[in-house]
Parts: sequence; structure tokens; C-alpha cells
Amino acid sequence: MIKPAPILFPKDFLWGCATSAYQIEGSPLADGAGPSVWHRFSHTPGRVQDGDTGDVTCDHYRRWESDVDLMHSLGLNSYRFSIAWGRVLPDGVGRINAAGLDFYERLVDRLLSRGIQPMVTLFHWDLPAALDDRGGWLNRDIPHWFAEYADVMFRRLDDRVNYWTTLNEPWVVADGGYMHGVLAPGHRNIFEAPRAAHHLMMAHGAAVQAYRATGRNKIGLVVNIEPKYPASQSDADCAATRRAEAYMNRHYLEPALLGSYPEELHEVFGDAWPQWPAADLRLIKQPLDYIGVNYYTRAVVRSDPTAWPLKSTTVKQKQHTHMETGWEVYPQGLVDTLLWIKDKYGNPPVYITENGACFFDPPQVEGPVLEDPLRVDYLRKHITAVHTAMQRGADIRGYFAWSLFDNFEWAFGFSKRFGIVHMNYETLKRTLKSSAHFYSKVIASNGAALSE
Ligand code: FCB
Repeated sequence: MIKPAPILFPKDFLWGCATSAYQIEGSPLADGAGPSVWHRFSHTPGRVQDGDTGDVTCDHYRRWESDVDLMHSLGLNSYRFSIAWGRVLPDGVGRINAAGLDFYERLVDRLLSRGIQPMVTLFHWDLPAALDDRGGWLNRDIPHWFAEYADVMFRRLDDRVNYWTTLNEPWVVADGGYMHGVLAPGHRNIFEAPRAAHHLMMAHGAAVQAYRATGRNKIGLVVNIEPKYPASQSDADCAATRRAEAYMNRHYLEPALLGSYPEELHEVFGDAWPQWPAADLRLIKQPLDYIGVNYYTRAVVRSDPTAWPLKSTTVKQKQHTHMETGWEVYPQGLVDTLLWIKDKYGNPPVYITENGACFFDPPQVEGPVLEDPLRVDYLRKHITAVHTAMQRGADIRGYFAWSLFDNFEWAFGFSKRFGIVHMNYETLKRTLKSSAHFYSKVIASNGAALSE
């Protein structure tokens, strides 16, 4: 039998892991930092599972040096992390906290000294509480506030940071934070959700504009894409699928890339959907250097007139494996997503900025390695899916596993583990899982280990 040719990725492909500030840093108020909405939310009883908070989490704020060494030992050539806005500007605007800026500068310098390219996300959900007190994402001034903060970061680090990202997953902020109230700041209001989403996108546009004035490298937007498939070919299921897909996926990509919102959003929001000024859409649509795609799962959609607000439900695919979060494992969805972006939006450069899985891992580990075969299988199939999409012409430049460590998984607290490195939250000991060893081999062989 002839052995199939090994999978190989381009030489300059970025191989990284992703994290975010509130999820891993701990010490959220240290050295003059201002509190974020996530600090407040997690300290409000009943909001986060088991009352968990980001007060300590992985203690990366104090262990960053050895953490970078750990990344180096895995062979990562890039690392995606986020800046806590409130460490740099404790009130969100105005006064700069030098200690906060210094922390990120030291982190960037150490990464570079270990041959690791930083990809910096400016906003991964931890809005300064001082800005939330002024209306947060509902205030029309927030694009200016965000651009002011972004500009501080660009001026300090653009000489060393080649990849910037404005927002991480604006859909999650609008949907979880303003529509359903399950994430910070915990509002449940269909009139607020489209407004928050619109201001997020304006903030994205304003930050990109600020970047073009001073920046020399690349800037993009990170969206979470969950492809939607109709449960049947009935008109009702197909229309429900289009609504679900417009609400979650096109709501963000279309204004950013095409300068307009999908028609279906009128149906989704009804009276709550405003007429937006054309100038706002001009601000939102800025030339981008890349799109970051976060992919975890897909949804099979069935029409259900009683379900609020989308009038549809997700049909569980019992024949497939599901994660601890209930998400279906569906690697073909990643191929479909990447080809959809290629065909629909003119094949922009894409990084897979998050992809990973949460399966049961014990809180304590005996021995040097934790075996996590389901996560190894997930990574193998999804990285192979990336390669398949590339062979079909999609312009994919890098892949970031979510996540380097088990960490504070938002409203789930520490109950859900996505890391390729296990975290013992009592001792803060880091232990490699077999998925970390596997990923390391994939990187070292530039993909060949996927087919072994
Ligand atoms: C994404 C988030 C990330 C993490 C993963 C599991 O939506 O960007 O912070 O929570 O999901």
C-alpha cells in the first residue's frame, strides 16, 4: 500500500496557544489596576459557578517568566494573549498606570527573546468598571475611549508587536453580556444587545483607524464562527438557520468587511433594531490585515416559534462526541467555515485564533503527564481540517490552540478545563497533558505528526 503524503504546513505558519488576561493573570487589582466588569461580576454572588473569581486563577501575573519558558519548551512560535485595559488605564481613559504598561512590555520582550511572536488582543471582555459606570458598551462615546486606550498600546509596543487584534468575539459580549445576562455586565435586554454590538463594532473601527495613523504591522478582528446547518430542508428550518447564522456570524463580519448589516437582523430584533447612521458603518468598515476565527463547534438548527429571541432551537446530534460544555465535536465545520469565509469575503488572510476542547480532567494529577486522549483526537482532527481548507485554497496563516492552561472559564468558573497544560488550582502546579506533547510534535514536524 502506498503511504499517503504527510501533511505539511508552510514554513512561516504561526503555531501558538491563546489565553486572555482575566482568565489567567490573577491579581486583578495589583499595582494600581482598576477593576473590570468581570471582577465585579465574579464577586457578585450567584453569577459564576461555585463563586469562583479571577483573583488568583493561574497566577500568571506573577509567574509570567516561567510561563513563557514553558511555551518555549513546547516549541510555540507565537502566543496570543490579551491586555487588561484597566491595568493600563485604571479609569478606562485618562490617567495611565505605568506599572500596567510595564507588565505587558516585559512579557512581550521575554516572548521575543524566546523566539515567540506576540499576537495582542486589546479587548477580551474585561471592560474597566469605571467605563461601565458611564454606560459601558451602551455609551456612544465608547469608540473614542477604546481608540484612546488602543493608541497608548500601539505607541508603546508596535515596534515589537507584529499582530494586533481589536476585539475578541464581539458576539459573546453582546449576546452573553446584554441579551441573556449570563456574562458580564449581566444585562438581559433585547433593546440593549444590538446597541452594544454596534458600539463594539464602531470601537473596532476607531481602533483600526488609530492604528493606521501610527502602526506599522498587522491588525485584525477576532470573531467566533459557529456554522449553522438546517435540521431539514423545510422552508421554516432553512429560514431559521439563516436567522441564527446572521445573528451570530454575519452580524460582525459583514459590517467589518462589507460595511452593512445582514437583512435578517430586522427579523431577529424586530422593533429593537435601530436605523444606523451611514457614517457609523463607514467607521466600522476599515481595511483589515487579517481575520481571526475562533472555532469550537457547529449548530444544527430547527425552527421553533416559541423560542426567544431567534425562534429556533439547536438539535443535539447524539451520534457525535460532545464536550463538557455540551458542544458537539464536528471538525468538518471548521473546513466549512474556512471555505465559507474564503468564498464569501474574498479569501482574506485568516488565523485560527482559538480552537480547543473541554473534556473531563481531574483537579489533581499524579505523575508527570495527564493523559487526555479526547483532546488529542480533537486537536488532530481540527488541525487536519485547517490543512484541508488550505489545500482547497483558503489563505490560512496560523493556528492557536485554546488554551495554554486550564483557566477561569467565565461563568463556568474553574469547572471547565480547556488547557493543554493542566492547572492544579490549589498548588498552581502546571502539568503537561498528552495533548501538549502531541501539539509540540505537530509543531516540530510542521504538521507531519498529524498523520502518524
Ligand atoms: C471563547 C472565548 C475564550 C474561552 C473559550 C472557551 O468563546 O474567547 O475566552 O472562553 O471560548
